[in-house]
Amino acid sequence: MAGTFARIVLFVFVVVGIFSYVGQLVPQFEEHPPAKKVIGTATPGEELAAIGEELARGKGGCLVCHKVTERGNDRGPDLRQSTAKAATRKPGMSAEAYLVESLVDPDAYVVPDYPKMMPSALKPPANLTMAEVKAVVAYLQVLGGSEVTVKVAQEDLAAAKPGGPVHRGKTLLAQHGCLACHKVEGEGGELGPDITRSAAAREPAELLRKIIEPGIWTTPGYQAGIMPAELGRAVPEGDRHEMVAYLAGLAGKSYSATGAASPFSHEGMRLGLIVLVFNLGMLVAVATASRRRRRGEAP
Ligand code: HEC
Ligand code: HEC
Repeated sequence: MAGTFARIVLFVFVVVGIFSYVGQLVPQFEEHPPAKKVIGTATPGEELAAIGEELARGKGGCLVCHKVTERGNDRGPDLRQSTAKAATRKPGMSAEAYLVESLVDPDAYVVPDYPKMMPSALKPPANLTMAEVKAVVAYLQVLGGSEVTVKVAQEDLAAAKPGGPVHRGKTLLAQHGCLACHKVEGEGGELGPDITRSAAAREPAELLRKIIEPGIWTTPGYQAGIMPAELGRAVPEGDRHEMVAYLAGLAGKSYSATGAASPFSHEGMRLGLIVLVFNLGMLVAVATASRRRRRGEAP
């Protein structure tokens, strides 16, 4: 009996060993979703600013129009100077209050020599919550070399966005700054054409190329050279496929979002392989153990 038990233990070790070995062979998953940082009323200033920076670069889409380093876009003012300028923009208004207002209600004060084109950060495409707006303001304060004075209040946390689930492709279009210029399903900017029906007239593969090579064709009635190539090239390939799959879907076409050349380049396949090996191993282990036990119980 003791011998059988030892053999089962040994067998389980071998199975686990094989499992780990296969796990080693298979390339690690590249995409680790960042731990979701939650903003609270007690979030320290630096942490709030760090979350704000991520929002400004990502979901907020701010860098589509603004620069925060030497290289960047000049559609809007350089954000490195905003905190210093904020104190002088509106007499009697604090720098902090002006920055919050600039994000929430950009047309309340339009910076001289710039067009009225900034969308409210609370509305699509950015769709930030009030707490997120405060985090971005904290980032602007740090960027401008000043102290973080902005505070997140309890009521800033309340406003969760209404509405049903949003297609991931649409979220990606917003996240990667496309909706700063494009409308899709009624939401977004007006600098570029509404892309809700783009896939009706074009093949999905053409749309995919347009994202990384905006010069390959120009939408009739629009000016070439406005859509930034570096923006699309910075979008991870998988996200580009998902955006196109979403646009294709809006036009009633189907398009595979994976676009993977080999099945092993797809995360799902790799995970599936590991799970398959593991399950097979467990199956064999259980079958062997019960056969042994039956044999052990037989007279
Ligand atoms: C579609 C382009 C666009 C996007 C996207 C955009 N802005 Fe702007 N922003 C502008 C323009 C143009 C101005 C100047 C005109 C005005 O005041 O509305 C401006 C003004 C500002 C100002 C006031 C600057 C000053 O010197 O007074 C701040 C602060 C600002 N933006 C921050 C942001 C942040 C943060 C985001 C992201 C949540 C953002 N903007 C997204 C175009 C944009
Ligand atoms: C700064 C503004 C701007 C941004 C940001 C932008 N585009 Fe564009 N886009 C345009 C303009 C303007 C046109 C029309 C002129 C042209 O074809 O180049 C256009 C054209 C297009 C078209 C062709 C539409 C049609 O039906 O002919 C597609 C598709 C498109 N953009 C997708 C994207 C995607 C995806 C992103 C995000 C990665 C993006 N754009 C970001 C301005 C922008």
